[in-house]
Amino acid sequence: MATTVSLAKRMTPISACILLCMTLGLLCQGVASQDPYAPVCERGKYPPAESLKVPEYVINLDLPARDRWTQLATEKRQEIRNILKGFKSFVDQFGGFAEEIVYFIDLFGPAIVDFLPQPFQDEIRGISKATGLEIGEVTLYNIFYEIFTVCTSIIAEDANGTVYHARNLDFGLFMGWDAKNRTWQMTEILKPAIVNLDFQKNGKTVFKSVNYAGYVGILTGIVPGKFSLTINERFKLDGGYMGIIHLIMTGKGSWLGFLTRNAMETAQSFEEAMALLVNTELIAPAYYILGGNSSGQACVITRNREVNGTDVWWMKQAGGWYVLETNYDHWSAPLFLDDRRTPANNCMRKLTQQNVGVAGLFDVLSSKPVLNKLTTYTALMQVNSGHLETWLQSCPDPCVPW
Ligand SMILES: *[C@@H]1O[C@H](CO)[C@@H](O)[C@H](O)[C@H]1NC(C)=O
Ligand SMILES: *[C@@H]1O[C@H](CO)[C@@H](O)[C@H](O)[C@H]1NC(C)=O
Ligand SMILES: *[C@@H]1O[C@H](CO)[C@@H](O)[C@H](O)[C@H]1NC(C)=O
Ligand SMILES: *[C@@H]1O[C@H](CO)[C@@H](O)[C@H](O)[C@H]1NC(C)=O
Repeated sequence: MATTVSLAKRMTPISACILLCMTLGLLCQGVASQDPYAPVCERGKYPPAESLKVPEYVINLDLPARDRWTQLATEKRQEIRNILKGFKSFVDQFGGFAEEIVYFIDLFGPAIVDFLPQPFQDEIRGISKATGLEIGEVTLYNIFYEIFTVCTSIIAEDANGTVYHARNLDFGLFMGWDAKNRTWQMTEILKPAIVNLDFQKNGKTVFKSVNYAGYVGILTGIVPGKFSLTINERFKLDGGYMGIIHLIMTGKGSWLGFLTRNAMETAQSFEEAMALLVNTELIAPAYYILGGNSSGQACVITRNREVNGTDVWWMKQAGGWYVLETNYDHWSAPLFLDDRRTPANNCMRKLTQQNVGVAGLFDVLSSKPVLNKLTTYTALMQVNSGHLETWLQSCPDPCVPW
């Protein structure tokens, strides 16, 4: 302290100014030339280590709804319980009323589950039985994913018109930053619960998806030969909470992930899936990203809760050979603090249509900040071959938290 003061006393205003300018100049130069958080476009990241591939489970749709999830929920019992514990401590951090919420959920959960359409009611009851968790808690578990997912989805076609659909699922924003490990606690707890699911009837695949074990909706799914779809969260004031209240009061409005599951089970084509996603009232706004089995079949459906005001943005309008969605309306700028769209577009343009494919899209989705500390997995799909593969992701430092 004393030395600083005496040094300052000895300095003339001019020498002080020169020193200050030099320091600032050095700082600015350092930041400009090697910002460790600057966006990058990765190449050659594919394939990652085999240990990062997520395991696959068969869900037999011929079984009664109550029994379909028993094997998976039993095997992943501890992972599901850990996630729920994480959710509860997150609620607790926000207002210290976790006990009241859990009490409320335990009390009303069985009633809320009665509002759910079949087969979801019985499936949730089955998972409750297999995990030993209260029905209300499993219901809460299934609601959570509808509200808190941020992500990036891309559909692109190669020079031959073969359509690929890929996505990152980012989850756990503000849910416990672990300063020592530089990770989000919730994001890390989720990773061991990620599974690929093969939904079968008569021993044959009807559709496939990527799920957090214990969640019965579809956030990422493919019907081989027909279509693929992903859900991205759309943040709006009139969002999930309002929708849930509306649902409970009127019994109207579909859950985002239940509607997609319904589409996977019943729609026979891209067009039929589109009609369902466009014309069904929802409990929350959302982006549905839908891809088909032939050239040009790719769009982002921007949805309100109501069916009016829907916007369909086709690949052709978006730039010709790909369409990309994060968590902002395509006609307005992303939040400047969370711009994954510009870097992702940059990497797509650098990739070029010649390099579209599983490896190229994996590279784009492994590029920071498209890849960030919230990213749990990258999924890659191709409808015609019915291909779905999923890789656990993590973002080595220096890496942005979201
Ligand atoms: C396009 O099809 C041709 C002929 O089948 C094949 O040789 C080429 O590798 C394909 N290109 C891409 C990008 O898949
Ligand atoms: C931090 O990372 C270490 C090593 O990977 C792990 O053992 C530990 O459980 C992590 N801590 C938390 C709080 O997740
Ligand atoms: C695409 O899907 C439609 C509807 O299911 C089907 O009629 C058509 O044959 C499929 N096209 C290809 C190339 O698989
Ligand atoms: C949707 O319809 C309702 C009721 O007719 C109306 O109040 C609302 O403004 C409409 N929303 C849009 C985005 O058009």
